[in-house]
Amino acid sequence: MKLAVIGTGYVGLVSGACLADVGWDVTCVDKIADKIERLKKGVIPIYEPGLEELVHDNVASGRLHFTTDIAEAVKDASIVMIAVGTPTRQLDGNADLQYVYAAAEEIARALDHYAVIVTKSTVPAGTGFQVKRIVAEANPALEFDVASNPEFLREGNAIYDFATPDRIVIGTDSDAARELLEELYRPFTENGVELIRTDLVSSELIKYAANTFLATKVSFINEMADICERVGGNIVDVSRGMGSDKRIGHAFLKPGPGYGGSCFPKDTLAMVHIGERVLSPATIVEAVIAVNRSRTHRMVAKIAQAAGSDLQGKRIALLGLTFKPNTDDVRDSVAILIADELSQMGAIVRAYDPQGMQQARKILGNAIAYCGSADDALEDADLCVVATEWNEFRDKKPIAYKRLMAEPVMVDLRNVFSPDEMAEHGFTYVSVGRSAVERKAPQARRELAMGASTL
Ligand SMILES: NC(=O)c1ccc[n+]([C@@H]2O[C@H](COP(=O)([O-])OP(=O)(O)OC[C@H]3O[C@@H](n4cnc5c(N)ncnc54)[C@H](O)[C@@H]3O)[C@@H](O)[C@H]2O)c1
Repeated sequence: MKLAVIGTGYVGLVSGACLADVGWDVTCVDKIADKIERLKKGVIPIYEPGLEELVHDNVASGRLHFTTDIAEAVKDASIVMIAVGTPTRQLDGNADLQYVYAAAEEIARALDHYAVIVTKSTVPAGTGFQVKRIVAEANPALEFDVASNPEFLREGNAIYDFATPDRIVIGTDSDAARELLEELYRPFTENGVELIRTDLVSSELIKYAANTFLATKVSFINEMADICERVGGNIVDVSRGMGSDKRIGHAFLKPGPGYGGSCFPKDTLAMVHIGERVLSPATIVEAVIAVNRSRTHRMVAKIAQAAGSDLQGKRIALLGLTFKPNTDDVRDSVAILIADELSQMGAIVRAYDPQGMQQARKILGNAIAYCGSADDALEDADLCVVATEWNEFRDKKPIAYKRLMAEPVMVDLRNVFSPDEMAEHGFTYVSVGRSAVERKAPQARRELAMGASTL
């Protein structure tokens, strides 16, 4: 089977490479000529573990191709996937569908045979019908079907997630399209992956429902972490105690500086917009967004407090700029927001990230200093902020941090270190939902905090 993937970003490139790897003939298209040129030379435009090797292998086997020319890509293709971006539309918070619609029109003009046009991008309920209308208007003679096949991969784990997904969702009202997509995913379903067949609208909604629910878990545990700090509890234990309940599960119950990245912020906003449009408000999601928004200021306040209130002239080593480890993606990264706020408050921010420096520089410009290593960032720092939990930061011993820093003050927004160990090394250590002293005098502290909070 031949297929074309329109949009060669985090989703398009991973999907294309993985589908080529199971034996299909895949052509990935992007309108950025430089990206395609580099891919043709074997240079991978994003950082994703294992992707370089996968792309090289499948290009070498002749199953994976790259082009800027949609017509060339869709020639003989039975399936054309749309994997372009759907960022937030500034005007109203809805998903900006201009790239999806433009791609649909280009596909329609390029196709001269029956194909299934599949939306892999995350799109609001009803978008598939719009794609159908656009294609029919652009090429009235064309025979085609549309389908929705949302993608659930996580950056940093994308190849594993694509190859062994929890489920594959196919939404379409056409039997022919469903059969073709079943064939496409047969190498996965034969290995036991669950296939969920549904209609177009439900499929589109599944993706938003899943992402907004996960974001809800994140905001929920973050609120619990704040409460833990007030009452002297330990969020790690609370989270473990909650997550062990099979009805709840451990995933996405790690407290931190709030969710970021290329999906949750925009998908929660779009979900609210969808609810508003159909007069059925997504009130819970609205609260999730509000909690997450207030989180950045809370984290900056935590940092300011650890620095002794005044950040003016303080040298801050900021470790991590990407929204999570094992990616170079800094889109809507909380670390970036924190860096910006700290620098506006007069701090000298010296940042390091193993993969995200180039992308961060495009957003933050000269607001911060970009260091060549974690050690470079830590040199003479008055305070260190761990904003992304890269293993490189986790593996570094507290003593190694202390030796480099001017003052042993650490704000660990990812709970990477043990409060007790940091206290033993003489650190002023602040984390999320935990306290360095709680193990030393737990009962007294708890009673004090409870008493204070009931006053
Ligand atoms: N990134 C993730 O982890 C993830 C996970 C699941 C779903 N998604 C969804 O998948 C979609 C794509 O996300 P992404 O992170 O891969 O985006 P991305 O920005 O990394 O990639 C999109 C690519 O599409 C290209 N493009 C846009 N219009 C085009 C056109 N008409 N022809 C050819 N190329 C075109 C862009 O140049 C860009 O390279 C979004 O809807 C996103 O919500 C993303």
